[in-house]
Amino acid sequence: MDSNISKVTAHISHNEALIFERSRPGRAGFMLPPLDVPESALTEIIPAQFQREDDLAGMPEVSEVDVIRHFTRISTWNYSIDLGLYPLGSCTMKYNSRLNEKVARIAGFANLHPLASEAEAQGALEVIYELQQHLAEITGLPGISLQPAACAHGEMTGVMIIRAFIDARDGKEQSANRRTMLIPDSAHGTNPASAHLSGFTVKTIRSTAEGLTDLDHLRELCSHGDVAGLMLTNPNTLGLFERNIQEICRIVHDAGGLVYMDGANMNALVGVARPGDMGVDVIHLNLHKTFSTPHGGGGPGSGPCCCTKELAPFLPVPRVVRVASATDASTPDSRLQTPDSSVFRLDFDFPQSIGRVKAFLGNYGMMLRALAYVLTHGYDGLREATEAAVLNARYIAHGLISDYEKPFEAAPMHEVVFTDKRQARKGVHTLDIAKRLIDYGFHPMTIYFPLIVSGAMLIEPTESVGRQELDQFIEAMRSIAREAIEDPELVLNAPHTTRIGRLDEAAAARKPVLRWKPAQVDSELRTIASV
Ligand SMILES: Cc1ncc(COP(=O)(O)O)c(C=O)c1O
Repeated sequence: MDSNISKVTAHISHNEALIFERSRPGRAGFMLPPLDVPESALTEIIPAQFQREDDLAGMPEVSEVDVIRHFTRISTWNYSIDLGLYPLGSCTMKYNSRLNEKVARIAGFANLHPLASEAEAQGALEVIYELQQHLAEITGLPGISLQPAACAHGEMTGVMIIRAFIDARDGKEQSANRRTMLIPDSAHGTNPASAHLSGFTVKTIRSTAEGLTDLDHLRELCSHGDVAGLMLTNPNTLGLFERNIQEICRIVHDAGGLVYMDGANMNALVGVARPGDMGVDVIHLNLHKTFSTPHGGGGPGSGPCCCTKELAPFLPVPRVVRVASATDASTPDSRLQTPDSSVFRLDFDFPQSIGRVKAFLGNYGMMLRALAYVLTHGYDGLREATEAAVLNARYIAHGLISDYEKPFEAAPMHEVVFTDKRQARKGVHTLDIAKRLIDYGFHPMTIYFPLIVSGAMLIEPTESVGRQELDQFIEAMRSIAREAIEDPELVLNAPHTTRIGRLDEAAAARKPVLRWKPAQVDSELRTIASV
């Protein structure tokens, strides 16, 4: 490996036993004051049937310094967005300003009880209202609910709105014949799941050789009078802008259906193009990708749903609305009114609403981060971020084209897909390339997704990476391509710089060892590591 390319540097890297294995009888990380009350037998406190016999449930006996050093050491083996490029396609793993985290922790917001009255929550409601206004402007769709808790949840909310709209428009009897949801074969798996959960039958639209929705197939599927809608991701999961989007919307509308856009890839469009202007009826956004909350890690997400004026009556309740009159007897405490004497209220009075989809008003911390993100960027800054995200993906596309197979000719948007076609001739596959990338100090890209591309490597650099690191990444990938020809074994056995080498991922998935057990742990872990 050329040391100029590698980002990896020498590092103290001890072999680390599990915390359970570090346990020594009698060690403790705490001291309690002497007992100043009479000692009671355990049976007097905990009924016998609830007592365990397995000696402290196997808790490790360790000192404070054992614990601190153990967890600090293993924390240094992690890769994170704060360490460098995290090119996980379809995940928008961008660095977000610490300021947005600070805003989410402002005590008045963070400690506000979710059952606080409208009067006590005016500031929090104003944040929601203001964010709603910005997201409606960004999408070009005026109806909005911030309730959904994630992308898939926003999808489900959106298709439920479509269903409620069609039921109201056609009448229950007629609309029962309109239960087909069209979804391209490149879609994220959550799309068909959301449609199915909402009572639709899914029909799949083929992609063309160019990686776009096949218009002829769409027309054919729309000719049976049963189409309720289309769920389209744009840019699609291949990173390509569906340039026929207006024609696609026209075909679906002419067939009596509605267009749902999976907005998970809005990092490629914010501030540049608005789905509402393209003919889209309803969309969700991923605040946990595009608008500052980090994606992944199992934390909460937020998938606001935006829609046209016609669909707005069906959005979830309650809605956060601004009421102009301060003289209305039902308005909250007048001391809490805004300078123009308006107040913010929760409005439940939407009889056609699909109802509540989430407790309270949604995941509020994500909304604070998103508003901070929007306001600190400004609309010009949002546009610049989008342009940088697309430029970076195109820079990588250009940098790797000589060494890797790029299955679609079109210039990518925020992410670019390559395949292992050339390396496979030497027996080196996508998984091997991804593993070898770890040796160069990078988190691997998304692999084997989208499913319609054999050996896919989906690379999404995002806007938060500079030219220097883009060049390092390109050089690392090109170096791996050379290794695949000159020394395939090196790539096939990667990673070499990590504590544990290549794992048998199938065995790890099929026979996971999720709990430490004294007798068997060692042999089971060793079996997985050595296969
Ligand atoms: C295009 C697309 N749709 C749906 C999802 C699912 O998102 P979530 O995990 O928030 O439900 C993702 C995830 O990133 C995505 O990229």
